[in-house]
Amino acid sequence: MSEKNNASIQIDAAPMAQSTGALLAWYDAHRRDLPWRGAGAYGVWLSEMLLQQTRVEAGRGYYLRFMQAYPNANALAAAPLDDVLKLWEGLGYYRRARSLHKAACVMRDRFGGQVPDTYEALMQLPGIGDYTAGAILSMAYNKPYPAMDGNALRVVARVCGVQQSIDAPAVRACVRALLCECMDKARPGDYNQAIMDIGAGVCVGNAPACDACPFAPHCRTRASGDFACIPKRAPKKSTPTLARWVLVLCNAKGEVWVRRRPEQGLLAGLWEFASGDLAAGETPQRAARAWLQAQGVADAKLFDYGDHKHVFTHVKWQMHIMGARIADGPALVQGQWVDASARARLTFPTAYKKACALAEEMQNI
Ligand code: ADE
Repeated sequence: MSEKNNASIQIDAAPMAQSTGALLAWYDAHRRDLPWRGAGAYGVWLSEMLLQQTRVEAGRGYYLRFMQAYPNANALAAAPLDDVLKLWEGLGYYRRARSLHKAACVMRDRFGGQVPDTYEALMQLPGIGDYTAGAILSMAYNKPYPAMDGNALRVVARVCGVQQSIDAPAVRACVRALLCECMDKARPGDYNQAIMDIGAGVCVGNAPACDACPFAPHCRTRASGDFACIPKRAPKKSTPTLARWVLVLCNAKGEVWVRRRPEQGLLAGLWEFASGDLAAGETPQRAARAWLQAQGVADAKLFDYGDHKHVFTHVKWQMHIMGARIADGPALVQGQWVDASARARLTFPTAYKKACALAEEMQNI
């Protein structure tokens, strides 16, 4: 069996190659029962879009709701983007929802409403990278492409005893080539999904369930016991924290003040409450009062609802959430007053979950 070479990187593929038969036998006996398995190309693509950065259990309900609302690419393309965002609500990473909708439009306009079946065409679609293209091609079209995500990298790194960081592009390229070589060419989709299931339920954390693992007889890391060090990761870059204030402002009619975020940038086009970044040394109460004054509200009693942190890919928001009730709605500057049912139709980012709970409490009184 070949060694995978890439400049200084060498990975012995033998432990993976020797385990392919056992892996597929394990998959036949232990595969998870997931609704998108065997669902056709549209279901596979939809599930992969939903599951990027999302756990399978969290994505399952979304998958079923999306399939019910939009059973094919043409139905999804015909839907208003706001409806798609609303159905996506709570999953986070809303750019993926926009990509999903845009890609469905491309499928309608250029591919007869079908999910394309070549790597090149898939890679042209929004929201699809090498992993997702490989997952779709292997699972939906039985083509021998690897689906290499973080789980697959961890499994291969452990089975082959990879000492280098799996974040290094050269290591990733080697692992990808190794997967191409070792996969069962007759069952590429099952091969990829078997590795996903091992990664999700067996080869986990620092105490993997080796007794249940089909790779165990050949696994280098099982032999060395080095689970704490493999896979090796590059040190995480720290993400900056932004201190923010959030004000849920309610009027005498029980309406809440909301605005739509700009069409570009973080949480583009989603809805939020009055809010902003805090300047150094500024208190949330002072910032909220300044905003209220700019809206023509001279005096309002603020109450504190506590702090809430939300971690995005590149930034953390540390939010202080407040509520206020005023007699009359101030002039609307890029915002609007909505009652509880209108608010429920708008899409709020997960970051505002706690603020939404406050709005619900205030509007139900
Ligand atoms: N994560 C992403 N796609 C998956 C699939 N098809 N099976 C299990 N987990 C997944």
